[in-house]
Amino acid sequence: DMGGHDTYMHKEISEQPDAVDRVLRGRIDDRFSTVHLGGLNLDAREARGIRRVKILGCGTSYHAGLIGAGLIESLARIPADSEPASEFRYRNPVVDPDTLYIAVSQSGETYDVLAAVQELKRKGARVLGVVNVVGSAIARETDGGVYVHAGPEVCVVSTKCFTNTVVAFALLALHLGRIRDLSVADGKRIIEGLRKLPAQISEILETEDEIKKLAAEYAEAKSMMFIGRVRGYPVALEASLKLKEISYIHAEAYPASELKHGPLALIEPALPTVAIVPNDELLEKNRAALEEIKARSGKILAVAHQEQEKADHTILVPKNEDELDPILMGIPLQLLAYHTALALGRDIDKPRNLAKSVTVE
Ligand code: F6R
Repeated sequence: DMGGHDTYMHKEISEQPDAVDRVLRGRIDDRFSTVHLGGLNLDAREARGIRRVKILGCGTSYHAGLIGAGLIESLARIPADSEPASEFRYRNPVVDPDTLYIAVSQSGETYDVLAAVQELKRKGARVLGVVNVVGSAIARETDGGVYVHAGPEVCVVSTKCFTNTVVAFALLALHLGRIRDLSVADGKRIIEGLRKLPAQISEILETEDEIKKLAAEYAEAKSMMFIGRVRGYPVALEASLKLKEISYIHAEAYPASELKHGPLALIEPALPTVAIVPNDELLEKNRAALEEIKARSGKILAVAHQEQEKADHTILVPKNEDELDPILMGIPLQLLAYHTALALGRDIDKPRNLAKSVTVE
């Protein structure tokens, strides 16, 4: 049942305010400015002993893990990174007892992720799951974790589950942070930011008509570049993947800082760039990247908190806490991919060559 929407993807994009509300519900503890995660199965002493966090997932879940790693580093001050589970399992990784491993999966059935979890467990590692489907193979195989509560996702490409997974990581990062060195004041600041998300997502969804007009313009492109810096880079990766998957337009994502090390050679009027430009400590650096692109007559679509002078178009999103901005900046780009694919007449819910859950190697 699409509930009045033309596609599941559109329905699932629209459900995000409620979905985010659901992942937060019952978990926030205002008394100590922290969160309770019932199924985590990691006590405070164990949480203090973690030296590193390694997040493993595939596709969109890997991208959610990249944002999650950034949240864990900044809120809990634990070195963290995310890697495609498939790469991890084929490189005979060093398994370290002081590392917390986290498997991320919407379906909970992705074979490469499951195989990585099994290999880690065989070697004695502690593995948690950040999973959407309750009771799925990865949920059962992990030692504990955080359910994402996005609800069923039918469209082959992931949208609401991506957003909810990142919010679940924000909760986990806040939880680990408050056990370690995150202050009560910072805990409170993040909690207030989290509570603002559902209304801010609704605000972004209301700009759909505007994004649809932009999509009609960008649908003519043969290829697109997506750039972001630090927190913005995983947003660029995910937006680029979404566009590729459903519109079949070639797209690449680069850290904004890497442009000058190669891809700047591609910039010309026929290759538009989508730039993630939050109002944070990196704003001036990001603006410099826009200038480099403009100097090569590249067309720019910025996703930003204020109008960007060098951009041809700016999609404005509401500001949250710097750490939580990536959650909001991804949402207009889901709509951009959606309307681009729609303008090109693509089969949005079932893109060619793709399956919802990849249970083969
Ligand atoms: C992208 C997409 C895929 C999945 C990937 C992992 O829109 O849907 O990239 O994210 O196949 O799937 P899960 O999260 O079910 O493990």
